[in-house]
Amino acid sequence: MKPTDEVLAERRARVAERWELTDEVVVLRAGEPAGWSGTDQHHAFLPHPDVAYLTAVGSPGTTLAFDAAVGEWELFGPRFTPERLVWEQPPTPVGQPLDELEAWLGQRSERTVIELGAGATMPETLPPPAATDTPGGDAAKHADASAGAMVLRLSAAIALERITKDDAEIDDIRQAAEASTAGFDWVYANAAPGMTEREIQIGMEAQFYAAGAPRVAYDSIVASGPHGAYLHYVYAGDDPLRPATRTVEAGDLLLIDAGAQHGGYASDVTRTMVVGADPTDEQEFLWKLVLSAQQQTIDMCRPGKVWREVHLAAARILGAGLVELGLLRGDPAELVTQGAVALFFPHGLGHLLGLSVHDITSVPYSREPSDDPLLSRLGPNRLLEPGMVTTVEPGIYFIDALLGDAARREQFAEAVVWERVDELRGFGGIRIEDDVLVTDGDPEVLTAAIDKPIRIG
Ligand code: GLY
Ligand code: MN
Repeated sequence: MKPTDEVLAERRARVAERWELTDEVVVLRAGEPAGWSGTDQHHAFLPHPDVAYLTAVGSPGTTLAFDAAVGEWELFGPRFTPERLVWEQPPTPVGQPLDELEAWLGQRSERTVIELGAGATMPETLPPPAATDTPGGDAAKHADASAGAMVLRLSAAIALERITKDDAEIDDIRQAAEASTAGFDWVYANAAPGMTEREIQIGMEAQFYAAGAPRVAYDSIVASGPHGAYLHYVYAGDDPLRPATRTVEAGDLLLIDAGAQHGGYASDVTRTMVVGADPTDEQEFLWKLVLSAQQQTIDMCRPGKVWREVHLAAARILGAGLVELGLLRGDPAELVTQGAVALFFPHGLGHLLGLSVHDITSVPYSREPSDDPLLSRLGPNRLLEPGMVTTVEPGIYFIDALLGDAARREQFAEAVVWERVDELRGFGGIRIEDDVLVTDGDPEVLTAAIDKPIRIG
């Protein structure tokens, strides 16, 4: 749902409040299409998410400016020349013509101008930890703050607003999830041994688009058999000129990680199925283990939970299952701490979802654990709050690059039952992923309408 002007005004007001600026000028640019080198063509354009959040406009060139002295925002949008309009349709006209931005800035030439969005230059090193939990304010109060530190802190202030979603945002994620449902339903009804991964991808994505999605939220992962052990296996990832694809065989695991986008918002769903045969004992055990880890950790997605703890809970559940199956030996909690479970579950349990599929990652803080309160809210130690949408996506994989690595085999000689594990090389991977809205009550699975069959075809 496109946010109303009132909702946009509220978003901007909350950001300005966090910034606590006095007389600076802030410019947020959506960006311009990136050129394809050696040609006169461009890569597909997507606006900087901070600008999309504050304007609900996605055209290249869209620029939002803020004058802190008077607390006023000004929106600028591109207008095309007649020559350009011969070739391209006009962007939706918004705000003042972009050409007038220069004059607007000229009237404020004696003030400090801070570029955010696509024009921002993030600092290479992080500023000292903030004393309070008011990132924008902290930035403004840092007498010695470098321009980079200011950019970081003002960007983090927007991130802290984007971290919880308002109703308009949640509505877009729901609509993205609905389009994804159509795609997965097509897979369940049509995928069968003898089809290629590519054919399945095309059929699924056609349903995303038919259901109203302008685009996919990220390159679809349609990985059969051993390919499921590459976490981000995508079509043409080998060679865009002559991409390979694989024909699905009866009994293969088929891991599909894909999501439609709507209104700029992503959905992100993974299902893993055995195609055209009943699951083997190991497939069934591990599939049910991953599902159980997912169900238990979805239930933990409640206000006040520390995300890192939810991740570790999933890792312990998966570790206990791997011990039960005879692939690991030892205490599951210790196996997690030593890193033995990460041989099979080498990624985080999930990530925030929103205007990008891995949302709120543009602020370097968000990836680093720290005592900084700003960081702790953005990063892996973040406390879950109502309004956050996070994926929950445990998985178990048999990854040659990890399992065949001599140093790791030696390091985990005791913890891993290598004879058993080596029998399962080529198994692929199992991941099950849903998009979860944290609420004041029970967590709501926004992708719950997408079935979880263990076998299709
Ligand atoms: N959808 C791919 C990922 O979350 O990394
Ligand atoms: Mn994901």
